Amino acid sequence: MKSVLIVDDEVGTRESLRMILKNDYEVFLAKNAEEAFLQVKEHSPDIILLDIILPDLDGLKVLEKIKQKEPDAIVMMITATRTVKTAVEAMKLGAYDYITKPFDTDELCLIISRALSTQAMEKEVKYLREEMDKSFGFENFVGKSGVMEDIFKIIGQIADSKSTVLIMGESGTGKEIISRAIHYNSNRRNFPFVTINCAAIPETLIESELFGHEKGAFTNAIERKLGRFEVAHQGTLFLDEIGELSLATQAKILRFLEEKEFNRVGGSKTIKVDVRLIAATNKDLTQLLKKGGFREDLYYRINVVPIIIPPLRERKGDIPLLLDHFIKKFNKENKKNVKTVSKEAMELMMNYEWPGNVRELENLIERVIVLSANDQIQANELPFSLINVSKMNGLKEYILNGKVSFLKAEEEFERGIILDALKKVNYIQSHAAEMLGVSRRILKYKMDKLGINRESLKDS
Ligand SMILES: Nc1ncnc2c1ncn2[C@@H]1O[C@H](COP(=O)(O)OP(=O)(O)OP(=O)(O)O)[C@@H](O)[C@H]1O
Ligand SMILES: [Mg+2]
Repeated sequence: MKSVLIVDDEVGTRESLRMILKNDYEVFLAKNAEEAFLQVKEHSPDIILLDIILPDLDGLKVLEKIKQKEPDAIVMMITATRTVKTAVEAMKLGAYDYITKPFDTDELCLIISRALSTQAMEKEVKYLREEMDKSFGFENFVGKSGVMEDIFKIIGQIADSKSTVLIMGESGTGKEIISRAIHYNSNRRNFPFVTINCAAIPETLIESELFGHEKGAFTNAIERKLGRFEVAHQGTLFLDEIGELSLATQAKILRFLEEKEFNRVGGSKTIKVDVRLIAATNKDLTQLLKKGGFREDLYYRINVVPIIIPPLRERKGDIPLLLDHFIKKFNKENKKNVKTVSKEAMELMMNYEWPGNVRELENLIERVIVLSANDQIQANELPFSLINVSKMNGLKEYILNGKVSFLKAEEEFERGIILDALKKVNYIQSHAAEMLGVSRRILKYKMDKLGINRESLKDS
């Protein structure tokens, strides 16, 4: 039950308020400032109804003192007449609202319950914002290789500036997480972070998505719609896959970058917004430039601060750290307690090329942890495809160094791919043969030769 403290020197007012509120709230009473302070100290009431005229101390002074001690308390002033001057003063000191005598019962109850729900909402927003800051702060963004350290440093240096950032990297390397880190570490963090994936929106709609449209601008434009640039006002707009934009749309973005303004589709009014642009691409824009697929002037405009994220295979030193990070994350989400990775599993992961980069690693760890019953990740919990490729990588080295014969390596490869196919089709040999493009007879022959049977599926 929420609690209310009523501070008023007139016994009649105290009593009538108490009668109105006692069914829904725990009610405390005080007839002067001194009692009010005692009650606040003892009960920390959620709401305080405070008479502006008290015998021992000015109500505004009381308000000020209470707010110092209990900044989250909702204080409503009670007055006989509403004067603007005291109203303004009380609001400045942190009063939530005013109620004037005589009270209207329904109105009073409504004001109080509304104040309480606003307070609950504010608390939630505060909590969510802190969570958000945490998740996009640096704690959830790991890396210790030299390049990643440099990237962290750059983010810190440029977060507060307005410069356009161009993030380049293969799929899954962390382009989006980096752009979020820039936004949430900048002085724009309390304004929107808006994303748009240029590759996911059809060419005919992209302009209206970015810049909005007026009612009637085209057949389906039944209402005015704000574009992402407008929504992102004072915040950051993340333009993902910028290499996919048509030359026409590129021209409009260039205009925005040069003049900070644009028109909605079908609109004649010029709209100005304050938006920081972060663009990302997994394409080589310089190649696109040469082929005429990307405007040179736009390229130089967006490439003010370039951030190049190397693929995971070029910074394998980050793998153990990322593993640790994702193991913790998915342990928590799935209430598991995986602690380490076996030496063999670690070796396989270090030898693998990670074509899907960090995202592939993250998805893999999630799957392994969901299915895991041990506290250590074992090699046989990793997918065949990873094991095979990884072993192949290791094998290549071994063959070239004469540690393993070519024929033995060939066998290893065959074994891996056959096991992979069999596992995919639940050991239905005819399906596996079809998948591998050989006859069932040949598959059977190879399986016999390599000693593969149903049991091998379990321990590979
Ligand atoms: N250094 C890192 N630390 C922790 N998590 C990371 C890191 N890099 C990437 N991730 C995680 O990997 C996943 C992929 O990252 P993100 O979506 O940022 O990649 P991307 O480069 O935008 O990929 P795509 O080009 O496919 O959109 C996300 O879940 C992200 O949280
Ligand atoms: Mg992305």
